[in-house]
Amino acid sequence: MADIKDRIAREVLAPKDLDAIVVTDQYNFHYLSGFDGEGELLISAGRAVLITDSRYTIAAREFSAPAGFEVIEYNSGHPRKEILNGLLSEDGLHKIGFEDLSLTVAELEKYRKMLPDIEIALLGEALDALRMVKSPDEIALMEEAEHIGDRALEAVLPLIKPGITELELACEIEYAMKREGAMGFSFETIVASGLNSARPHHRPTDKPIEKGDFVTMDFGCIYKGYCSDMTRTVVVGKASERQKEVYHTVLNAQLAGVEALRPGLKGKDVDAVSRDIIKAAGYGEYFGHGLGHSAGLFIHESPRLSPSEERVLVPGNIETVEPGIYIDGFGGVRIEDMCVVTEDGCRSLALSPKDLIEL
Ligand code: GLY
Ligand code: MN
Ligand code: MN
Repeated sequence: MADIKDRIAREVLAPKDLDAIVVTDQYNFHYLSGFDGEGELLISAGRAVLITDSRYTIAAREFSAPAGFEVIEYNSGHPRKEILNGLLSEDGLHKIGFEDLSLTVAELEKYRKMLPDIEIALLGEALDALRMVKSPDEIALMEEAEHIGDRALEAVLPLIKPGITELELACEIEYAMKREGAMGFSFETIVASGLNSARPHHRPTDKPIEKGDFVTMDFGCIYKGYCSDMTRTVVVGKASERQKEVYHTVLNAQLAGVEALRPGLKGKDVDAVSRDIIKAAGYGEYFGHGLGHSAGLFIHESPRLSPSEERVLVPGNIETVEPGIYIDGFGGVRIEDMCVVTEDGCRSLALSPKDLIEL
């Protein structure tokens, strides 16, 4: 990453009339410093400092050097309070931005007491906004993360048979993702079968999968810090006519959403394209969540594809497109791909087929 001071000065300090920012949110910390660890950043126009403890000092130096950080180690003889106050007074930094979206009230109070001479300002979405447009390097990592999911799905499809439980299948999906290169998981893997598939965020149970079940698998991994997210729904045995109708309605909505996703549209416009298809088929009341969300270092980022998203999409946004229909007492279907917004449309990062699979 290029030296971060100039970008922060231009895109955050100047518009908000700040002298510096203090960063502790794990995702902003990682994004700005290049280091996936713990500590705090103090960034002004003239200085980028990473303050951490001896558990992290060596790695922090290695990973944050390309972004131009100086690493300072704190300990009982050299406390954070002393380090921060020293840096602020040395450089005459007074108005400091803090991350009100992630700091707890207690943490902000601690800063108030620790730094009595400063003016505390709230950053709002200013740092999250920096992360909304992904660089080509970030997109390449997310594409590989999504492909790990593709390979894991291919590996587990032959295991989906009557008798295997939701928990066992979730375990197989996670094992396959790890074997394919995942370093962690973006969220708790969802395997929802039969009537449970009507619960969009079902937690896998010891319910055995049965003939005739919809099986919805929603899974994502972390690859070099970046998240993937994908959902596929299959039928065990032959699908009934109603299952086929619900599946194809969701598939049409998903394909239309991907087709519509492009720069210049608002997130709510893309949501409406898929939602209208589901409504027209008579299932509007069974699609309760937004069409999609962005992802990156964190699984749920902005901009979103939802009825209330007013932000305009731009090239480099990553968006999931994940419509669903969930009918209590019957079951549900969700199909989800992660896509990158390009200059004239979007490109799906997932390769897994979306036609109905009957196992
Ligand atoms: N289950 C997380 C998501 O798809 O957003
Ligand atoms: Mn998902
Ligand atoms: Mn998602």
